Amino acid sequence: MRYSETITIEDLDTDPFPHYARLRAADPIAPVPAANCWFATRWSDIEQIARHPDFTAVSDEAPVNAAFGRPNVLTCEGETHAALRGGIEPHYRPRRVAEYIDSLVRPIAEAQLAAFRASGSNDLLTEYFEPISALALARSFGFMEVDTPTLRRWFHGLSQGAINFERYPARDAICQEVVAEIEHVALPLLERLAKTPDHSPLSHMLHSGMEPGQVRSAEMILPSVKVTLLGGMQEPGHGAANLLVGLMQNPAQFTALRADLDALLPQAIDEALRWIAPIGTMMRTATRDTQVNGVKVPEGTPVSCIFASANRDETRWDNADAFDIFRPQKAHMSFGQGAHFCAGKWFAKAQIEVAMRVLLDGFPHLAFADDPPEFRGWEFRAPTHCRVAL
Ligand code: HEM
Repeated sequence: MRYSETITIEDLDTDPFPHYARLRAADPIAPVPAANCWFATRWSDIEQIARHPDFTAVSDEAPVNAAFGRPNVLTCEGETHAALRGGIEPHYRPRRVAEYIDSLVRPIAEAQLAAFRASGSNDLLTEYFEPISALALARSFGFMEVDTPTLRRWFHGLSQGAINFERYPARDAICQEVVAEIEHVALPLLERLAKTPDHSPLSHMLHSGMEPGQVRSAEMILPSVKVTLLGGMQEPGHGAANLLVGLMQNPAQFTALRADLDALLPQAIDEALRWIAPIGTMMRTATRDTQVNGVKVPEGTPVSCIFASANRDETRWDNADAFDIFRPQKAHMSFGQGAHFCAGKWFAKAQIEVAMRVLLDGFPHLAFADDPPEFRGWEFRAPTHCRVAL
């Protein structure tokens, strides 16, 4: 039996990196039956698959289709993809983000820090990073009135659907409950925005590129709204938490960062995203019998491109498993590859920067509480908590 066929979901959820290393070394494009797909684990193979004419993002297998519906920005191509992405992307381009990020995120972060101090909790994951991430995305996207606990429940529920490669009914049920709740809030909002547009991405998704007097239907855009809510609310907070854990595990780097935040914070954020990719995978399907770097892949094979593994590829980085904010800077894959590259990269990184600055200003000394966090997950990976000594 191939080693890849022995890997279990529990192995991956606990610590996928030793398994990825073994696959990169000996069997880099290989079936993993437990995940119902093949894994591509080397940087160069994933680069190829993302641009390969024999692979498509269109998939009947992708959990996001079953969970959120179609057409879905992540799993469509061509004109439909351009139309859906075109409604979201302009608001999150770097120059646009620079205009509003501080005035959007700083007040949220300051209020959240005050709430954290008052909460009696010492968990910065649940009381600081996740709320900021959820609120910043929701407010920037056009959901102005949904409160933080609801938003956090939404992304936790949506993530249960997005990772449901194993098709567990219990996960699906959690996701569908949240989906119904989101539609209950979104449908009247979309109806209002259809008549009275504003500058939000939600409004733009309805109106951009349409003939005067026409709008896209709610059915057309809702699956992509759910994808953006999930990734946009969940990942920046988890990326920020990964960074804080990396820093607390490496106190000398933490001290150096505090001494020169302006110079070091941007590269520290990228290093945290490289070290632990918050979104570990992207699914592509072979449209015909094909080959990648000499490995035969049969038509119809779903191949999970493991960004988290590419980010640790020893042919690209020295000592790749180590968190090192001083390593020579090179692009990582945590925001994806190819046509579906993350639409929120600049927003996410700028938001993490503001959240970290507010936190470090407020807490000149941060260290773990008694029980240091573990990381969990492989499609989505994050610390189980981020409890600090107060
Ligand atoms: C650290 C934070 C984030 C990470 C690590 C991340 C990662 C990714 C990755 C890996 C993909 C590609 C997935 C694939 O091809 O299957 C993606 C796509 C996407 N992301 Fe992000 N993301 C982050 C934050 C955000 C934010 C804040 C937004 C909000 C605008 C966002 C919106 C999207 C959208 C709309 C797509 C789909 C793009 C397309 O299919 O064309 N992401 N993201």
